[in-house]
Amino acid sequence: MRKPAEILTASAEETIAFAKHFGQGLKPGSVFCLEGPLGSGKTTFVKGLAQGLGVDHSEQVKSPTFVLMHVYKSKTPLYHFDCYRLDSTEELENIGFGDFVNDPKAISCVEWAEKAKDLIPPHARHIHFEILDTTRRRIIIS
Ligand SMILES: Nc1ncnc2c1ncn2[C@@H]1O[C@H](COP(=O)(O)OP(=O)(O)OP(=O)(O)O)[C@@H](O)[C@H]1O
Ligand SMILES: [Mg+2]
Repeated sequence: MRKPAEILTASAEETIAFAKHFGQGLKPGSVFCLEGPLGSGKTTFVKGLAQGLGVDHSEQVKSPTFVLMHVYKSKTPLYHFDCYRLDSTEELENIGFGDFVNDPKAISCVEWAEKAKDLIPPHARHIHFEILDTTRRRIIIS
């Protein structure tokens, strides 16, 4: 078991900067379940991660709430899911979720991964976001 890492950020920019650095060191095939309340910084983190992966126009990374998934192209593609509005895991199965999160050449981030239940592969890592106050967040990576 990897020791959980805990980071405190004091602004969205700090979360982006941290995620960018984190993204630069990632191995393809990684899957991250992003958990935590609305507005805690999950999408902001993905934006930084996209920068770190060298995604073009990573400033356009936004919540895929209404489409379930975005694909961002880079040398290592980034699959960004948001399960907030998911009614059943069948919807994920229908878009080939299992194939995406098991793609050894890509990185996957899943917001509200709790709703994807047993479709989350066992090798997934969990990143938990906690709101401390309006601008401070605790990010725990396990
Ligand atoms: N330290 C911080 N880290 C990240 N975001 C912050 C921070 N401080 C303030 N914010 C603000 O909090 C909001 C976080 O929004 P974001 O869309 O990233 O949350 P989310 O966890 O993806 O929410 P949702 O569950 O609705 O998808 C943004 O408006 C951002 O500017
Ligand atoms: Mg979000």
